[in-house]
Amino acid sequence: MKKVLHQKREGFSSSIGVIAAVLGSAVGLGNIWKFPYVTGANGGAAFILVYLLCLALVGVPVMLSEHLIGRHTKANAVGAFKVLQPRRPWYLVGGAGVLSAFLIMAFYTTVAGWVYAYIFKAAGGALLSAKPEETTLVFNTLVSGVGEPLFWQIFVLLVIGTIIMAGVTKGIERVTKVLMPLLFILLVIIDIRSLTLPGAGEGLSFLFKPDFSKITIGVILAALGLAFFKLSVGMGAMITYGSYVNKSENLPKMAIKVALADTLVSLMAGIAIFPAVFAFGFKPNAGPSLLFITIPTVFNSMPFGRVFMSLFFVLTAIAATGAMLSLLEVPVAYLTEQYQWTRRKATMVTILGIGLLGSTATLSNSLFAKVTVFGKTFFDFYDFSTSNILLPVGGIFIALFVGWQWGYVNVKREMSNEGQLTNDRLVRIFMFLVEYIVPFAIALVLLAGLNIIHF
Ligand code: PHE
Repeated sequence: MKKVLHQKREGFSSSIGVIAAVLGSAVGLGNIWKFPYVTGANGGAAFILVYLLCLALVGVPVMLSEHLIGRHTKANAVGAFKVLQPRRPWYLVGGAGVLSAFLIMAFYTTVAGWVYAYIFKAAGGALLSAKPEETTLVFNTLVSGVGEPLFWQIFVLLVIGTIIMAGVTKGIERVTKVLMPLLFILLVIIDIRSLTLPGAGEGLSFLFKPDFSKITIGVILAALGLAFFKLSVGMGAMITYGSYVNKSENLPKMAIKVALADTLVSLMAGIAIFPAVFAFGFKPNAGPSLLFITIPTVFNSMPFGRVFMSLFFVLTAIAATGAMLSLLEVPVAYLTEQYQWTRRKATMVTILGIGLLGSTATLSNSLFAKVTVFGKTFFDFYDFSTSNILLPVGGIFIALFVGWQWGYVNVKREMSNEGQLTNDRLVRIFMFLVEYIVPFAIALVLLAGLNIIHF
């Protein structure tokens, strides 16, 4: 085993910077693109309730687990397990995380590319239409192309590669600190417009009036998968970011704050989109295209729509970029610390790998439209296999590791900042969750959701 480099480790410089970076990882396409489309595909309000339950009982405890071991070991996703348990193969959990980072990036850079492209389409006026057929056509033309979406995907990769090469504090912190508040303000404006559309009420009932007959085991698995994806947990991104957090930070408080803020952003994106879905006659279960076809109609119906729409896609692009930085940081930290690669080399090799894999996702609607893996296109396969399998499985092992291997004494010490915080009850609740609830709940939902066991 190579030695983990502890010297000269960069860290986030302030408490606000830490929260901004962790939130910058959590908030992204997951809120603005994925949350609405998965909610729409799974029937609305009842799904959201299950999702919130998954967040609280599983997502937050796994996030806290990752922050605890990351901060304690000051190491990357693989290195952290090697430091804590050199003789057992727990580091494979980190290895699976590095793999997940690649697979997520493969389709995430595709969608981020669409968002970047939409900035220019919005500014150029191509998207100003209240007709569902027209906005759908613009989207379909983009995604079924070859050169255009590939160009944008490569562009996205170059942008994040440059920021990551600039290093942790300077790059990540600076970019995310300013942008989150801006995105929030813009969402408020869009929500007001959307809520005042004629027929907005139907969208609101879809979002907030649960119909429990819509809950199936597949819906529960989708909610669980979304909770992992949303909080960026189950694959070591939060171990890696936790490793840059300083010793005086109150970790449980931070995890809860991040989950709350993140959920607020998702709900606001839902409120921006669903009233428009019903007002303009879209189908809530349109799938991954939902954001791109509905949002232009909202802007079209407001003053200065073109300006606001361009700004909306700029901010979405920036949120997506913050999330991608944390994804890219997982393999980069792993390669620099475990193999002593330079940051430059690690970044370039990783980007190249993601570019090659990711092009298969981007071309899923054109050249590779007929190619399937387990019955899914490349794009859908990367999306489904990470959110709904790899991240939850990662979550099981991270929880088991913290609960049963690392254990109460160590958890208490790290969670209380070496005794400086009095939070013993919280430690006990957390231990109960990671020892019993998290692993069993995930295992059950996974096995049933994937049709391996039947009730
Ligand atoms: N949480 C991010 C989002 O919602 C996606 C992500 C997943 C980022 C896993 C890092 C790790 O967009």
